[in-house]
Amino acid sequence: MSVRAAYEQWASTYDTDRNRTRDLDQMVTERVLSRVRGTQILELGCGTGKNTALLARMGEHVHALDFSAAMMERARAKLSFPNITFTQADLTLPWPCADGAVDLIVGNLVLEHIADLPHIFAEAWRCLKPGGHLFICELHPTRQYMGKQATFRHNEIDTLIAAFVHHVSDFFKDAAHAGLTLIDLQEWWHEEDQDKPPRLVSFLWQKRTV
Ligand SMILES: C[S@@+](CC[C@H](N)C(=O)[O-])C[C@H]1O[C@@H](n2cnc3c(N)ncnc32)[C@H](O)[C@@H]1O
Repeated sequence: MSVRAAYEQWASTYDTDRNRTRDLDQMVTERVLSRVRGTQILELGCGTGKNTALLARMGEHVHALDFSAAMMERARAKLSFPNITFTQADLTLPWPCADGAVDLIVGNLVLEHIADLPHIFAEAWRCLKPGGHLFICELHPTRQYMGKQATFRHNEIDTLIAAFVHHVSDFFKDAAHAGLTLIDLQEWWHEEDQDKPPRLVSFLWQKRTV
């Protein structure tokens, strides 16, 4: 099953399934972005809008992208903010965003489904204003080394969604190659993760001009 088809199915239960990774990601995003300013915000893979509400409260405008119509429909139905625009778009293609148009780009739990990290960082650099930030929070690769990946149950059938392993060094190297400066890297554990490797890794980069 394609990644898009999987999320079309998962959409109806994504918000209500028990999912510690989703819940930890929301807490991490609130915590890290409390230190960042953004007025024009681009969200990558907004899904059902778990983090879109936070972004709508932070910024003047949020442009939320996702290639799953069903996931985005959930977000549209839940969120009544007038400053969110939803666009169905595939992040592996050029993004529907003008050069230098946004000062914050946010992506959560989406890059494990995308093989080509250099494309993501090149598009982020193109869309960011000078001084703008890119925040990414992803399943930690140590979890992937243990065989973990996004999974859901639909009609009693478990579906593993196709995923690519990106090592921490891949994020570091590919973002630097695109011209982004890493200003924060953190590893995160859910409170039920005692004695386990980190569940999430978050990065904050800046498009510095000098
Ligand atoms: C695990 S969900 C995360 C949703 C949301 N960011 C969150 O944290 O709850 C991953 C989302 O990425 C989207 N996605 C995956 N690959 C994509 C691609 N190539 N282009 C656009 N969206 C994509 C899926 O449709 C899904 O909504």
